Amino acid sequence: MKKDSITRRKFLKKTSIGATGGALSLGGATSIYANIVKQADIPAILGGTPVRTRGLGVSWPIYDESDIQMFLDAYKSNRWSEYSNRDTERVVQFEKMYAETMGTKYCAATNAGTTALDAAQRAVDVGPGDEVITQTNTFIATAQTTFNLYALPVFIDSDPDTFMINADLIEERITENTKAILPVHIGGAAADMDKIMAISKKYNIPVVEDACQAHMGEWRNKKLGAVGHLGCFSFQAGKSLCCGEGGAVIGDDENLMAKVDAYSNNGRTRWGSSYKRITFAGIGSNFRMTPFQAAVATGQLRRLEEQSTLRDENSAHLEKLLKEIQGVKPTYKYLGQTRRAYYIYQMIYDKNYFNGLSKSKFRNAMSEEGIRLGNGIDSSLHRGSFIEGYLNTRAFKNIFSKQRLNKYRRDNRCPVNERIGEETGISLGQRVFLGTKKDMEDIVEAIVKIQKNASKLL
Ligand SMILES: Cc1ncc(COP(=O)(O)O)c(C=O)c1O
Repeated sequence: MKKDSITRRKFLKKTSIGATGGALSLGGATSIYANIVKQADIPAILGGTPVRTRGLGVSWPIYDESDIQMFLDAYKSNRWSEYSNRDTERVVQFEKMYAETMGTKYCAATNAGTTALDAAQRAVDVGPGDEVITQTNTFIATAQTTFNLYALPVFIDSDPDTFMINADLIEERITENTKAILPVHIGGAAADMDKIMAISKKYNIPVVEDACQAHMGEWRNKKLGAVGHLGCFSFQAGKSLCCGEGGAVIGDDENLMAKVDAYSNNGRTRWGSSYKRITFAGIGSNFRMTPFQAAVATGQLRRLEEQSTLRDENSAHLEKLLKEIQGVKPTYKYLGQTRRAYYIYQMIYDKNYFNGLSKSKFRNAMSEEGIRLGNGIDSSLHRGSFIEGYLNTRAFKNIFSKQRLNKYRRDNRCPVNERIGEETGISLGQRVFLGTKKDMEDIVEAIVKIQKNASKLL
């Protein structure tokens, strides 16, 4: 069997337990695990009884009558659009609450995570001909928003142990054109912010965090999104804080945040608020959040800490049980990560502990047990056909030389992330961690069943 791929040196810097504390001692985990092993018999894919007849995960989103009332109040207020930034507005009230939750001075709400990323990159002056350092395993919007500013997203490969941006590869990709670093706390785990902020300082390049999947995650006890110069969030329906569509930018820098805020509101500056009167000559667009979105997000915000704590507890239970198994483990975390978020909880599959059973066959067998695993975050954006869509536009051809675009194409290589997508990345969604401890044990039972019988599943 293959030796665990992580070296001792790396292990000292990273550990696989994602949440602080835990509901279960290791001894307790061992006896639960022993029972699971006893129970685990014929896999469903070979005709056995599935571990679960009902899928995992709670129904999402979660709301009650009070949420509906908040939405109706916004409806009946007859104020269906807010753009004055007065303290009485629902959107402004939400912004204040979110800034407080995130521990930043300012929050500017937007109508999506995509527009949050757009406004934030504009605020740090990303524009035609520039480059923004980002990563390949992220949602397409991270890169699209850079391309939409006629700049090039420079895709950095992933760390094979954490599945985060490999911060050791950033410095060699910095050029005179680099205008921002845009790390993504993908899945809700933290990127290595110590290294990233040190590079930012050394080269005087701002950091815009894409925290669209990372509500309530923390780096050294600071909320993800509040570590860099600006942080962007999505409140799209599947996110841990959601209002259908919606987003926000947070930060402490008054000047940058005033730019974000004004850009999102057709260049209008704030009045009756804590921003100074800073004018931007009307530069802007309409990225405004509606009062309906703010009402829903405010309702959801009330549950965010409690839900995050439940996810912490369930993931701690799962992780203690997974310690008993070889071949499936949570991705390692950087030591600075004091809390993770759970939008997509990624794990590392090693077929060498499953008689060489491929990841796709493993996922199929798990699915037959009623445990649907995702494919990790396998988006190797550097291979996306959308890139050529942008590079072949008249604008890109005018702004960039042929040589520069060809070099960009040649440098677009991220082999580690491709391997994660093809062989090692598996995942569970945030809703799964709002279930019960028994759900976590079912996941482990299904894995054990398949491991015991792997040779018959090849
Ligand atoms: C990492 C990341 N960035 C950006 C976005 C864009 O957010 P939205 O869908 O709210 O526009 C998302 C949403 O899925 C995301 O996951």
